[in-house]
Amino acid sequence: MYPLLFPRDLRPHWNAVQPPRVYSFLLGMVQNYECDREAARSLCRVAPWIRSAAIINHDFAVRSVLTSLALGVRQFLDLGCGLPTWRNVHEVDRRRQYTTVYVDRDPEVFAHARTYLEDSPSETAVYADLLAMEQLLACEAVRSAFDPGAPVAVLLHDVLPWCTDDAAVHQALAVLRAWMPAGSTLSITHLTDHWHRATMPDVERAYADHGLRIRPRSREAIAALFGDFVQQRRGLAAVGRWHSESRHARSPEENSAAFAGIAVKPGPSDRRLPAAERGRGGETAPITPLRPLRRAQPPRPPAPGLFPRFLMCQHQPACPPATAPDWEAAQPLAHHAEQAWSLLCNGVLLFEDTGALLPDGRIIAPHRPLATA
Ligand SMILES: C[S@@+](CC[C@H](N)C(=O)[O-])C[C@H]1O[C@@H](n2cnc3c(N)ncnc32)[C@H](O)[C@@H]1O
Repeated sequence: MYPLLFPRDLRPHWNAVQPPRVYSFLLGMVQNYECDREAARSLCRVAPWIRSAAIINHDFAVRSVLTSLALGVRQFLDLGCGLPTWRNVHEVDRRRQYTTVYVDRDPEVFAHARTYLEDSPSETAVYADLLAMEQLLACEAVRSAFDPGAPVAVLLHDVLPWCTDDAAVHQALAVLRAWMPAGSTLSITHLTDHWHRATMPDVERAYADHGLRIRPRSREAIAALFGDFVQQRRGLAAVGRWHSESRHARSPEENSAAFAGIAVKPGPSDRRLPAAERGRGGETAPITPLRPLRRAQPPRPPAPGLFPRFLMCQHQPACPPATAPDWEAAQPLAHHAEQAWSLLCNGVLLFEDTGALLPDGRIIAPHRPLATA
């Protein structure tokens, strides 16, 4: 069932630039029109970092979901989910069972999500504005999807910069934090002018030229969105700093252009990580090595003859080989959004449509249909 909280707005808008489609273009995907591409190109001219910022932000969802799963959370609420891409929230870890509710105020996002989730009974798409938070949390789709006593992982990734009214954002976040049971996680990524004081006004102007308003916020303003929740691991840090094992970690902080934090609601059933791994909330958290998300295990040598030498895994813990049931959990070595494939450390070529080519030549058919425009 797909509830419409704002049914009268469900009209396509092909000629007006829309944030999810600009973002889709920046990620190298195809769900966009010429007006969106034109806007994205003009953004790239004033802010050459904007494409990497989009990719680094988008990939953070995987880190966020794995962190919440490691904390025992099994219910996810993705607010401002955007168009379906590769490894959407409910696809991050197929070995574990969890529920995902996707929410967006864009009618096209909703239409894509509805098609995309047709074969996924434990996922729901809701068409709603997160600023109407009370209405959203009270709607039947959200209430029936979640176990009310159990913690929820809420993702607000690159959505709050699109909400320019500070008072409305604070009100919505206060309602949300009060609703979340203790032990829930709040994961936020947010555009900031921290590294781009000089150029951010040009970025805002470039969006405005295409009819869009964006609100970058300071580190302090972003920290305040978490209320009294306890920052985990890296604390509130450049998004790229959360990607310890990928190429994003080597990207300068200014290429993220955004802060990311994952914070836990304290309470009697506090599920915080050990103190040594906790961030420090308001101040810049020290960069400590991430705790491995998978159980530590001795490095597994690749099956003889299956892998060329350059693909031997150097990660700790070792990535699962292509022959293991959890082969999809291997670290990506290369990622080409524009061509829709990633090369995993175990030699698997993973395609955006969820199909894969194994190193021994076997083909894994996609397990979901391609989203169509
Ligand atoms: C840049 S995309 C981010 C997509 C995804 N969260 C990610 O990080 O990859 C921003 C999304 O937020 C949605 N959005 C913006 N304001 C919103 C609001 N007030 N309520 C719900 N969705 C909103 C837009 O429609 C768009 O799909």
